[in-house]
Amino acid sequence: MRIKIKQLKSSDAANRFLGKEITIKGWVRTLREQKAFSFIEVNDGSTLTNFQVIADSNIDEYERTIRRLGTGASLAATGTIVENPDKKGVLEMHATAIEVIGTCDQESYPLQKKRHSFEFLRSIAHLRPRTNSIGAVARVRNALAFATHLFFQERGFCYVHTPIITASDCEGAGQMFQVTTLDMDAPAKTPDGKVDYASDFFKKPAYLTVSGQLEGEIYATALSDIYTFGPTFRAENSNTARHLAEFWMIEPEMAFADITDNMDNVEAYLKYVLKYVVDNCREDMYFFNKYISPGVMEQIEQVINTPFERTSYTFAVRILEKSGENFEFPIKWGMDLQSEHERYLVEKYFQKPVIITDYPKDIKAFYMRENDDGKTVAAMDVLVPRIGEIVGGSQREERLDVLEEKLDRMGLPKESYWWYLELRKYGTVPHAGYGVGFERLIRFVTGMENIRDVIPFPRFPGYADF
Ligand code: 4AD
Ligand code: MG
Repeated sequence: MRIKIKQLKSSDAANRFLGKEITIKGWVRTLREQKAFSFIEVNDGSTLTNFQVIADSNIDEYERTIRRLGTGASLAATGTIVENPDKKGVLEMHATAIEVIGTCDQESYPLQKKRHSFEFLRSIAHLRPRTNSIGAVARVRNALAFATHLFFQERGFCYVHTPIITASDCEGAGQMFQVTTLDMDAPAKTPDGKVDYASDFFKKPAYLTVSGQLEGEIYATALSDIYTFGPTFRAENSNTARHLAEFWMIEPEMAFADITDNMDNVEAYLKYVLKYVVDNCREDMYFFNKYISPGVMEQIEQVINTPFERTSYTFAVRILEKSGENFEFPIKWGMDLQSEHERYLVEKYFQKPVIITDYPKDIKAFYMRENDDGKTVAAMDVLVPRIGEIVGGSQREERLDVLEEKLDRMGLPKESYWWYLELRKYGTVPHAGYGVGFERLIRFVTGMENIRDVIPFPRFPGYADF
């Protein structure tokens, strides 16, 4: 029977496996040939560390193939589980048979034992999950996704699948990828020379969604508490370590909730998933803390154990103005906060996660609820150390007249938002929600520098390989 290496490393492994004959399957990380036997370090991706197999020279095919196996070869090893004579409690296998499943050409295999740059690894994205770091990222990403579902399911939120293809621009930022089946070389034209969308697949312009929020609101105003968790797309030309053209977002939406409920929920959510990773990804987190981002564990523990700061945009701007810092973009009330401002607030001033609320209405999306001051909206951004903005959300405008007036003022066509407006016409309720940038969350947890290394196949300007 095949046993995964993770099970062989678990705390009850000795009880279960010592003296038993089992099979493991995986890829060779290293092979060290001794006089009468070889040590083979096998990894199957179920866990970070390898499992040591001892292959005696008397097993079948030893001379001809086994002892020559190189890094990357795949095999099935069968044998007895024994305790390593030099390391108490550490198990290893004394192999009785090794079946080579796939050899690996050492001349051309790009993953040699030395450390590779993440940039180089991106160019071999089909092999990079076999490295310690990208494998660990994949497992932590998986744990964060699972913990996300646990958190919302435990609280009675319904998981809703919002569409990927949409005709509405939720953020109103015009950064959408168009979806079309028109012939790009010769699209059908209307008499006045414009592209004739009547002959396009959806009979109107359609795009990849930037957010599932608007459709999320539809379900929240029927099922009370919902969340979406899916891919979102932004055609912003940002070549940075924090932006992707395709990224995943977690978007809860709560009916009968205001901005304070929203803040309480997001703080509980972040603490919950961080704690889940600390408790369930020990080995991987130890690795990140030691080799990728020293201190990351401590930082996560601190976030779990400290109440988040909550402050208004206006107050944050005052802090920034008085900071004496020489910002590249000098701050002024009305301006959006830049990454340097966000990092000053979290890393220098507050030294803990900060939820910033009540932004100027002119720099935020149309759906945010207008505050009584007439100048700001009930927005909230969550900022964390190293990353800056990790979550964006708000209480939504639930008053029909205010929303209609706002759409007019912003020059947005009321006809295309007819269904969104009807949610306000038929049994409207105060409601609120937010969007967590999943890759930013993973970057925060793992300490990985570049967002392109925490998603299996990154898409960014000029790049959509694999
Ligand atoms: O702040 P954003 O634009 O908010 C929304 O889209 C709302 N509709 C969410 C809601 O209220 N339901 O995006 C939310 C988060 C950001 O805080 C950021 O973490 C992440 O999504 N994000 C990106 N992550 C990677 N690459 C990009 N280009 C991103 N743009 C936003
Ligand atoms: Mg935002």
